[in-house]
Amino acid sequence: MPGDLKVIYFANSGSEANDLALLMARLYTGNYDAIALRNGYHGGSPASMGLTAHSNWKFNTPHSFGVHHAIAPYPYRGHFGYGDAEAGVKCADDVKELINYATPGKIAAFFAESIQGVGGFVEFPQGYLQHAYEHVRAAGGLCIADEVQTGCGRTGTHFWGFEAQGVIPDIVTLAKGIGNGAPLAPVVTTPKIAAVMAQKVHFNTFAGNPVVTAIGKAVLEVIEQEKTQENCLKLGAYIFARLEKLKAKYKVIGNVRGKGLMLGIEFVKDRATKAPGREECAQAVENPRELGLLLGKGGLWGQTIRCAPPMNITPADADFLLAVLDEAIGAIWVRGHTGLQPGSEKSSPATRASKRELKPPAPRSLLPALRRTSVRSLMFLLRVTPATALSPSRIHALQTFPIYVLPRPFPATVPRNRGRCTQGFLARARRRRLDFLQPLAPGPPLPRPHCRAVGLRLPVLRRTLAHAARLPHRWQRG
Ligand SMILES: Cc1ncc(COP(=O)(O)O)c(C=O)c1O
Repeated sequence: MPGDLKVIYFANSGSEANDLALLMARLYTGNYDAIALRNGYHGGSPASMGLTAHSNWKFNTPHSFGVHHAIAPYPYRGHFGYGDAEAGVKCADDVKELINYATPGKIAAFFAESIQGVGGFVEFPQGYLQHAYEHVRAAGGLCIADEVQTGCGRTGTHFWGFEAQGVIPDIVTLAKGIGNGAPLAPVVTTPKIAAVMAQKVHFNTFAGNPVVTAIGKAVLEVIEQEKTQENCLKLGAYIFARLEKLKAKYKVIGNVRGKGLMLGIEFVKDRATKAPGREECAQAVENPRELGLLLGKGGLWGQTIRCAPPMNITPADADFLLAVLDEAIGAIWVRGHTGLQPGSEKSSPATRASKRELKPPAPRSLLPALRRTSVRSLMFLLRVTPATALSPSRIHALQTFPIYVLPRPFPATVPRNRGRCTQGFLARARRRRLDFLQPLAPGPPLPRPHCRAVGLRLPVLRRTLAHAARLPHRWQRG
């Protein structure tokens, strides 16, 4: 990380990481108020739900004490649009106004995602964070970048999302990608800020556990080795250009935006009024399910497809995604209108027929590869806590490690009585319903998107095994 961002605390989830960041900012500055952005999401714990500004995610309980929400720097739907070269400065001015009008003039923290994720992949106008950070620092506050979604190269041009805005935060929170499925949520800050935590004891049973931190290290190495960031840049640009073509074809698409493999497609009922296309988006997300593609949506009205596929997708995956989207959006039919631009080719029987031809690309030998490593994976579990040393509390501890790396069917090649390991261990673990063992049971293969999305990727697992071999003795022997 740039600057003096050298100290890392480990939490288990993005919400927890943001809670800790807010705590540190309040302790360090001695101030209480915090500013976050409308349309932002920072988690579901009481403190991070307070930072979140989306009614869908805020339960009707007391929260948000001392938190104020500035206007969303949302060029498509916000106060200052794409055509306004000063939009970044103008949106940032609202942070200053909020400090002046809603706080004692001093604040503890300013939270912003580098691209708003749950809010529908909203990319800020250039200069926004730079100016907002200036106002925050002038009021004594710390600048906190929530990189839970944008971190680790997903945006393509930079490894961290905030870098695209030319700023260096005081605290950065991470989760999701850095763990590749494992509960890992680093909070990165400067030694000076971190020192405030020495005032008291801050404790969290599972935070920073050796297995999950080994996974994090492996993830970073694999991203570097496989040039995953470059893949995000290349395929992101390719998909973006093709989405623009879909926008020209379908009038229900109001806006296409984003960076790298973090692309938003916002649906509208009418491009002139920008009335949110909630039903249109719901159909565009629902139709592809039959075709083997799972999509997520976001935005206050659920009007935006959030296209954030695994960072290692291939050109064939991208083409599949685009073909399915074309088909799915063409099939939208809401209150007597289709999603097509007037004059576009109608959704015809020929298009319908193509639906049957859309097939996901072949799974690139993922399962055979997993079969080859299955024995080592299992041994990894055993090395962390050998069968001979399994106490109920240790089994409980294991339950928190999501070693759900092996998609079904777990290969029949698991050695039945290999060494001193498996039978007793598996039986005891199954009796206790260990989550990570469930995928070991034989069963129908998961549909392909799951194989990719669930659990650790194979190279990450391999490196985790290597790191785990160097873990302290007590973790190897139980
Ligand atoms: C930007 C952002 N911050 C924080 C969180 C909360 O992370 P978690 O769900 O791991 O608590 C999320 C989750 O979606 C997120 O997208």
